[in-house]
Amino acid sequence: MIKLLRILAALALIGVVVVLLLIFLPHHLTEPQEDLAADWTPEEGQGEYAMILGDCAGCHIGADGTPFAGGQPIDSPLGPIYASNITPDPEHGIGEFSLDDFRAVMYDGVDEEGHDLYPAMPYANYRKLSERDIRGLYHYFMEEVEPSSNEVTETSLMFPFNMRFGIRMWKWVALSDPGFEPPFGDEVENAEMLNRGAYLVEGPGHCGACHTPRNLIFAQKGFTAEDSEFLTGGVIDGWTAPDLRQEGTQPQDWDQVEMARFLATGRNAHAGVSGEMELVVQYSTQYWTENDLLATAAYLDEIGHDVARESDAEDDVPSLSEEETVTLLGDADPEMALGPRLYLDNCNACHFSDGRGAANVFPQLAGNATVTAPVPRGLVQTILEGAELPSTEAYPYKLRMPGFGWRLSDEEVAELATFVRNAWGNDAGAVTAADVAGIRSAIEDSPEGHGEAAD
Ligand code: HEC
Ligand code: HEC
Ligand code: HEC
Repeated sequence: MIKLLRILAALALIGVVVVLLLIFLPHHLTEPQEDLAADWTPEEGQGEYAMILGDCAGCHIGADGTPFAGGQPIDSPLGPIYASNITPDPEHGIGEFSLDDFRAVMYDGVDEEGHDLYPAMPYANYRKLSERDIRGLYHYFMEEVEPSSNEVTETSLMFPFNMRFGIRMWKWVALSDPGFEPPFGDEVENAEMLNRGAYLVEGPGHCGACHTPRNLIFAQKGFTAEDSEFLTGGVIDGWTAPDLRQEGTQPQDWDQVEMARFLATGRNAHAGVSGEMELVVQYSTQYWTENDLLATAAYLDEIGHDVARESDAEDDVPSLSEEETVTLLGDADPEMALGPRLYLDNCNACHFSDGRGAANVFPQLAGNATVTAPVPRGLVQTILEGAELPSTEAYPYKLRMPGFGWRLSDEEVAELATFVRNAWGNDAGAVTAADVAGIRSAIEDSPEGHGEAAD
């Protein structure tokens, strides 16, 4: 007994020492990835463009729209994490950060006082930024952004996640090597363009932060296309960020021009953007240069897997072919089941009985990843609340789908959703009334998030 107590005491002591080391041992910070002269300055506009590529505005915009004033909560399962004020205000912003302090945030998730930052700030992906982009960003935030004295609410997650030194251990296992390695050699045709696409997607664009699945400790399962799970679909804020790589997914069916168009305008002949992706388009990709959009599209095309992944949805509902669906909806049989009847009454006018919608206006529901996602939140939330395509420079008007949550019961939404998930060749699991009820209350409970920042 006494021996056991001694062992426990020893273990507790080791625990305390480890914690103290975690708190007081200085961080090992990543070196610059390129030696640039101390007086190197970015070209005019380069820093602002790096900011656009990284979508810094999407998260760091102030509640009243003040650029980079911070304060918007990023919803996390552990509570809201507030985005910092990153204007050059010396007291409330990052005015006191040196270039090295700034790089430590972007590469290592460490602030100027040595605190570890939550990975809601996507430094796991920004670790691939070039030194030129880091310098450009630093110059932009210090010289071109107006200081704001907005004081951001302090993030306080529940215990033990409020202890920031825990993030340090997480980073040891969750981060990849810093720096970007161009994956394509000269023997590949178009290598320069493909490498630019790889840089944009893996680095500043941080597409993997949402589109790559995460493991049990919430680390991204891969940061480059060498990892087979990179960009094969993740979940963000309850929505599925679809697989972008597998054969048979929508993006692999689109040609490169259509992909570039989707990123530039939030819509193309097949799809309309929604959920968190809407903000990506609104603050970031719509302003990317044509060359960068095409490079991204070429890279995504190049890294497509040529084998279709087996569907992991529990298949409890028979799937109807496109022809069977069109016939069923066209017959207007009085005995028609509830799902298709609700579709005819509520959806058919815009999305049509062939489920193909209208190019650039009403998205196609056949083969649509939001419709057939393993977690149906995106589809159900769209039915309940409606959706709006963002206004972009190419399409300045906003297009709205009305919400149906006020007139359809949970049961009805479930029947309708199950129908569209299995019509026109779609083949996905049923949605239950309990799923719908859960999603309704999750929407009501979610704090004014990232998502609302746009309005
Ligand atoms: C997905 C949302 C998101 C994006 C995109 C994002 N950030 Fe952040 N950022 C955050 C959050 C949240 C924090 C605060 C993290 C914490 O408190 O641990 C933060 C913290 C920071 C900090 C630390 C500030 C301080 O006072 O400690 C800096 C600097 C920063 N971000 C710069 C940027 C830049 C530059 C970009 C664009 C290249 C960017 N962020 C993009 C969410 C984001
Ligand atoms: C903040 C999270 C987030 C980030 C970052 C993000 N996406 Fe998305 N993306 C989503 C979500 C959620 C959807 C599903 C909603 C939709 O289809 O509009 C989506 C949808 C898409 C689609 C449509 C897929 C389909 O099958 O309809 C494409 C293509 C896409 N994203 C590409 C990208 C690229 C390229 C990047 C990086 C430049 C990126 N995304 C960054 C969350 C994100
Ligand atoms: C008045 C026309 C209209 C009606 C009626 C309508 N929609 Fe939509 N729907 C749209 C528009 C416009 C969008 C694009 C908005 C967006 O994606 O942000 C859209 C988007 C969607 C999306 C998201 C597609 C994607 O790629 O992200 C789904 C799913 C959807 N509708 C399903 C339905 C269902 C189910 C019904 C019937 C309950 C319905 N819609 C009724 C116009 C309509």
